[in-house]
Amino acid sequence: MEELKTIQWFPGHMTKTKRKIESQLKLIDAVAVLLDARVPYSSCNPDLRSIINNKPRLVVLNKCDMADPTETKKWLNHFKNNNISAIALDCKSGKGLNAFIPTVRNVLSDKLEAWKAKGMTGRTIKVMVVGIPNVGKSSFINRMSKQNRAKVEDRPGVTRGNQWFTIGKGFDLLDTPGVLWPKFDDQSVGEKLAYIGSVKDEVLDTETLAGRLLEYLKNNHADPLCARYKLNREDIQNLRDYELLELVGRKRGMLIAGGEIDTERAAATVLDEFRNATLGKITLDKAVEYPNVRI
Ligand code: G4P
Repeated sequence: MEELKTIQWFPGHMTKTKRKIESQLKLIDAVAVLLDARVPYSSCNPDLRSIINNKPRLVVLNKCDMADPTETKKWLNHFKNNNISAIALDCKSGKGLNAFIPTVRNVLSDKLEAWKAKGMTGRTIKVMVVGIPNVGKSSFINRMSKQNRAKVEDRPGVTRGNQWFTIGKGFDLLDTPGVLWPKFDDQSVGEKLAYIGSVKDEVLDTETLAGRLLEYLKNNHADPLCARYKLNREDIQNLRDYELLELVGRKRGMLIAGGEIDTERAAATVLDEFRNATLGKITLDKAVEYPNVRI
């Protein structure tokens, strides 16, 4: 089995993004950190905390429609226990979006009180939206904009090219200036991001990836795996990645000329079914395994 060594994370670009974000911090009141609810640890850039420094922040666990609801609750509790406001939502259906503005107001309650005391009640609240590619930043901003009949405005005094969106009366969102790449020290983070499709398939061998995913699911989520592909736990006990892929292909009748198993097709099916949650609502990063995640 080939190693998944082709994942590249462009660390040089991070320095540029870091500078850009830092230069915009003075324009905003809070930062909304979008994480993928299926991988809250792996989709969290570990540098972010130092980049946003002491700006008020909140966590948005997006794509919760595809995550295990029990795990999502545990992650919300995890953040709450660490005094970080967090909400779970799903930009596909729009579920949970209503909680966003009230949560930001809550995070900024001291500041809003101070504004009020100074007679600045009409002042616009500005929130920067950050997150790694594919986590759903555009979907989130679009949803929030539409929901609140927003219009994009040019603001005097603000650097050109910044994407500001008015999402409600006195409430603006700023799209991330630059690309916040994920960063990881251990291979498993890269693999999980590849499983969920945040890393483009072109840079990876899909059969290797699907085989790894099957082995991971066998070890961690055997029930939905066996149910979906009509497998027996005993039968798969001693099988490894590629062998599991072949078995799924055989079970699905994916054969090519000569009776060989079409593992390429099987891989595409497995990845597709995992990524659109046909295989089940599966959370890959369990809160209990990552007690040190902070934003
Ligand atoms: P980004 O700006 O952070 O890079 O992410 P973007 O909004 O482009 O979203 C990446 C993909 O994730 C999109 O799918 C989007 O539809 C999907 N997505 C975003 N939020 C959610 C969510 O809460 N639930 C689900 N199930 N999917 C979500 P795509 O396949 O790239 O495009 P398309 O399906 O929209 O055509």
